[in-house]
Amino acid sequence: LFSTDWQFFAAAGTSESLPPMRGIEIAFAGRSNVGKSSLINALTGRKALARTSRTPGRTQELIFFSGGQDLTIVDMPGYGYAAAAKAKIAAWTKMIHNYLIGRRNLARVYVLIDARHGLKDTDDPTLDALGSAAVSHQIVLTKCDAVKKSELAGRIAEVEAALAKRPAAFPGVLVTSSEDGSGIPELRAAIARLLME
Ligand code: GTP
Ligand code: MG
Repeated sequence: LFSTDWQFFAAAGTSESLPPMRGIEIAFAGRSNVGKSSLINALTGRKALARTSRTPGRTQELIFFSGGQDLTIVDMPGYGYAAAAKAKIAAWTKMIHNYLIGRRNLARVYVLIDARHGLKDTDDPTLDALGSAAVSHQIVLTKCDAVKKSELAGRIAEVEAALAKRPAAFPGVLVTSSEDGSGIPELRAAIARLLME
């Protein structure tokens, strides 16, 4: 069962300030501006639960949203945001990776990829870290409304081919749009299944 009652629960800017674990956590990672916060809003059916912005670098901390006792959804700062100060990028990257590979109740990480751009080199460190730590993770293509159907098929094939070299990733790519809602019921169902495990 997927909760319909979502609330902001905590924000953490450092690895030391993470909230206590309760239930399982599902995190949304990906490059800056890929649509992580928008996807969380679409998923929870709440227009402005997570803060979104046209300019990259909007989400600057780990943001925890609670959907009851059993499930917490985590919005993450994006990686690959070149305009931020180098020291800040390094600190974020470290915090993100520490969280991703060290959080014991993290049941699944969704790694978001912009359907218009596909996988980039900047996605490698995160996918490498998740793979070598054996953290359950799956790719979600975002902004599919902004890509022509013909182009989308090619993009999915391309991402699946790249993933074939990463056997640790959960098979299959989820194809979504927060704008028109496509793929959102499937993502909700996938998360609900994790709650049953
Ligand atoms: P950071 O927090 O900065 O890392 O960004 P983010 O990954 O959380 O992205 P965010 O959800 O803030 O969205 C970034 C921009 O992409 C906004 O202008 C959104 O309106 C737009 N966007 C997000 N999802 C979609 C989508 O499904 N389709 C389209 N066309 N635009 C989208
Ligand atoms: Mg965000």
